[in-house]
Amino acid sequence: MAQIELTNVIKKFDDLTVVNNVSLTVKSGEFLALVGPSGCGKSTLLRMISGLETIDGGSIVIDGVEVNKTPPKDRDIAMVFQNYALYPHMSVYDNLSFGLRMKGMKKDLIDEKVRKTADLLDINELLDRKPGQLSGGQKQRIAVGRAIVRDPKAFLFDEPLSNLDAKLRVKMRTDLLRLHKKQNATSVYVTHDQIEAMTMADRIAIINFGVLQQLDTPIMVYSHPKNLFVASFIGSPSMNFLNGSIGMKGSVPRFTSTSGGISCDLPAHMTGGIPSSSLSDLILGIRPEDILLNPSEDNLIQLSTVPIELIEHMGDISLIHLSPEPGVEWIVKAPPSPDMHDGQMVTLHLRTGKLHLFDGKTEENLYVNRSEKPQS
Ligand SMILES: Nc1ncnc2c1ncn2[C@@H]1O[C@H](COP(=O)(O)OP(=O)(O)OP(=O)(O)O)[C@@H](O)[C@H]1O
Ligand SMILES: [Mg+2]
Repeated sequence: MAQIELTNVIKKFDDLTVVNNVSLTVKSGEFLALVGPSGCGKSTLLRMISGLETIDGGSIVIDGVEVNKTPPKDRDIAMVFQNYALYPHMSVYDNLSFGLRMKGMKKDLIDEKVRKTADLLDINELLDRKPGQLSGGQKQRIAVGRAIVRDPKAFLFDEPLSNLDAKLRVKMRTDLLRLHKKQNATSVYVTHDQIEAMTMADRIAIINFGVLQQLDTPIMVYSHPKNLFVASFIGSPSMNFLNGSIGMKGSVPRFTSTSGGISCDLPAHMTGGIPSSSLSDLILGIRPEDILLNPSEDNLIQLSTVPIELIEHMGDISLIHLSPEPGVEWIVKAPPSPDMHDGQMVTLHLRTGKLHLFDGKTEENLYVNRSEKPQS
């Protein structure tokens, strides 16, 4: 399987730069998820790798060969789209074999490859059907099969599961992941579904406005987001934020919210090395699961006592909506409790080791950038 290297890749549509100087390497056999808001350039990036779109700057190297000007048919890359793009008048067998027939491959060899792919995807009983006689999940499987049968250097997936209902999506997600583990094919997978990205990918690339924000393992992007955008984009519900500043009280850093309504001491090591210019304007971040309402462990910072505004019961957990101070909305993930109710007063406790500090102007994660260097 091939490695895909993007170096300073640029794409412009008229005056609009939709992919802005993106450099990243998809390692051989790696499953890389590409996420970001709608319109941030994910599909454009895939189309440039496949050759369906030209590039306006930089270079794309596949398997050691620069392909900037290579037409799609000579790149040996298979793309699986959201809308399946099956030929409706052809049987599943013919849909699978079409590309190989076009290449002039021998009938016996085609048959062997189609049967092998059908085994792999468990679609043997569907080979004689037409796409119109298939469910959404089955069509998706055929679309994946059509890519696999070609034995390409790499797979590009553009939201392949987003047309499926929630239950089928979860099943197909697991199926695709199993398939990847068997095949170890270099794959770039665009998705809007964070759970898909987190569960399937070896690494996740987060893009915003055509700019690569962070490229790292699912655990690292979740626990060490490089900036405010990644922190708020990855994770559901999103990370909670509070604007403020840090002043020193002797050797103890003290965070005070912009309104002055909240003050709390932070561990001394958190501010070590942060330039004083950043201390005056920063954003405190904490994930919903790192706020406790009942202190049951050590190393917590006690914050305000506020009323519960709304509870969403999810079954395994409850999402508690509240405001640590007026105008600031937070969500806390808490174990479900039948005793909890709207209006109940609760005291917020933050896990000290899970606090993030972002620069108010650059929006960089000050803490991460000093202590650990995620890959980019
Ligand atoms: N052929 C085109 N001509 C002009 N603008 C285009 C063209 N194709 C895409 N764009 C613009 O480029 C930007 C990136 O589009 P792209 O399809 O890559 O986004 P995306 O991240 O895949 O979004 P989504 O999540 O909605 O699929 C958008 O602003 C889009 O309008
Ligand atoms: Mg898209």
